[in-house]
Amino acid sequence: MKSKKYIEQIKKNGFTLVPGFLSKLKIRKLIKLVNNFYEIDSRRKNPTFKQHKNKDKTVYNLQYKDYEFIKLFSNKLIQDIAKSFLNDPFYQFLKPDKENYILKYYNARSSVNKLDLHIDTYMPFKGKKTYMMQFIFLLDDSTVENGCSVVVPKSHNSGKFCNRNSKKIRNLTGKAGDLIIWDSRLWHGARINKSQNTRWALVATLTSWFIKQSMDIPKGIPKKIYSKCTSKEKLFLGFCSVPPKNEFEGINTKANYSNLLKI
Ligand SMILES: [Fe+2]
Repeated sequence: MKSKKYIEQIKKNGFTLVPGFLSKLKIRKLIKLVNNFYEIDSRRKNPTFKQHKNKDKTVYNLQYKDYEFIKLFSNKLIQDIAKSFLNDPFYQFLKPDKENYILKYYNARSSVNKLDLHIDTYMPFKGKKTYMMQFIFLLDDSTVENGCSVVVPKSHNSGKFCNRNSKKIRNLTGKAGDLIIWDSRLWHGARINKSQNTRWALVATLTSWFIKQSMDIPKGIPKKIYSKCTSKEKLFLGFCSVPPKNEFEGINTKANYSNLLKI
């Protein structure tokens, strides 16, 4: 099985790279969408819109912008890898072979500033199982000059917060179209972008169903995108893990696809 070697690499080193995951056509399509949404954001006059305070470019909440961004996750390789690490085997309401992990946060980013070494799980812990992973789709080449990611191999299993003076920091470069995946416990950061060019990437955080999403996606999703989603995609967006208000509404945060009808 194709996913096996990537799963093994993530278990061993904390990260992997799938070369040529996106076709050239798909890269062009996605980068056009990202640039378009970035332009729309740049012209916004809404006073509550959170403007960027530095040179980094971000398009927030891709799941609200275009169905194309959600569709990327209906891919067997991604599903097999995510399921292997993030699935709850005792989910109960769905068969164990069905995906039950969810989307936590999903942005497009082209950063300029250096990003210090950190972990994304908020707390370090040891073991084969993690509850959070990053999926990074490179839309531009990612090089040492334009601020590629940096990682400390095997640090996901250190059980420690990161040491920013580590001597084991390695560059993680890649080509446009590559997919980088890491266990969110991995010590990671990014170099400064010294070039004048963008380094766009789609950055998705996936978690086990019981972790709180960074955005309230079930409340925020536009109707026109929701109507295109399959039941599996609705679960992925968090619709099967909305906490009930009280015991009259429900007594379980987990739900089957059929419960989507009630939402
Ligand atoms: Fe991070």
